[in-house]
Amino acid sequence: MNLTSCTAIAGTNIALVKYWGKRDSVLNLPAAGSLSLTLRELDTRTTVRFGAHLGPTDRVRLNGQDADEDVRLRVVAFLDLVRAQAGISTPAEVVTENSVPTAAGLASSASGFAALALAASRAAGLSLEPSALSALARRGSGSAARSIFGGLVEMQAGSNPDGSDAFARPLPEADSWPLRLVVAVTSENRKAIGSTEAMRRTEQTSPFYKGWIDSVDGDLRDARAAIAERDLGRLGLVAERSALRMHASALAADPPILYWSTATLAAMETVRQLRARHVEAYFTIDAGPHVKVLCDLRHVIAVEAALAKTPGVLRTIVASPGRGARVLQETTA
Ligand code: PMV
Repeated sequence: MNLTSCTAIAGTNIALVKYWGKRDSVLNLPAAGSLSLTLRELDTRTTVRFGAHLGPTDRVRLNGQDADEDVRLRVVAFLDLVRAQAGISTPAEVVTENSVPTAAGLASSASGFAALALAASRAAGLSLEPSALSALARRGSGSAARSIFGGLVEMQAGSNPDGSDAFARPLPEADSWPLRLVVAVTSENRKAIGSTEAMRRTEQTSPFYKGWIDSVDGDLRDARAAIAERDLGRLGLVAERSALRMHASALAADPPILYWSTATLAAMETVRQLRARHVEAYFTIDAGPHVKVLCDLRHVIAVEAALAKTPGVLRTIVASPGRGARVLQETTA
């Protein structure tokens, strides 16, 4: 087995049909499918190097600093999965740079674990098929399974107890559709409650959880049909509905989970006003207060301008469809 150093990059993704709930928390298996857009401008670049001299423990650097212990332990647990697959026990050094604000609800764990899955598996001497890589990335973060692929991507929930069919696949119909996603950043802080704990609380205490999970297949069917027809209006309405239903299930948890701020509501209102002016724009919201607005290239300037002057919006980021995770550099140690 050749141990190498590998640098990989992955774009984050934003779900248009949300993932919110697990059927198995150890294997990190989703309770339902999801569908997302991988982005070019918000990414993670990660280098993994295995070497006996690097020990005794794994070292994790994040954005130029030693990672906090909770982040380091999450990376160590993931590296242990890779080491087990590769049949090695060598310590590693992980150096990662995020262009996405970490844990602010801008999906840094999606790009983070996709880049880590690719870099760590290659550095450990493994050469995984894309579906196996997606299933590996899923163990780090459910949404990371989707960032292995570019463009529009569907994650299947799968039904095998071992999770072998819980991986993502790209939707090729999406090629050359000039979609844009404008992110209205409404806070620079870390999110109040992480998605794993929030999902667990929703599953265990929300009376709306079952209704939410039961609604996902219909939304996926609708989203697939909209994509096949290149119907942005139909896809956008599915995305809004899916986000609102996901948040409704979380809001009904005990204690309740509320990610929105007044700026979130103001940005949602901006999107409704844009539509009233026949600017096709549709919002989605993840586990944080930011609002992400789906539109196409023709309307991106109007959408960005309207969001930028919305009260409470700190800045905007315009993102476009990006490629899947890929290796930037590999060297034999
Ligand atoms: O990948 P996780 O465990 O951080 O969960 C992601 C949850 C959402 O971003 C809210 C929805 C999604 O499908 O990405």
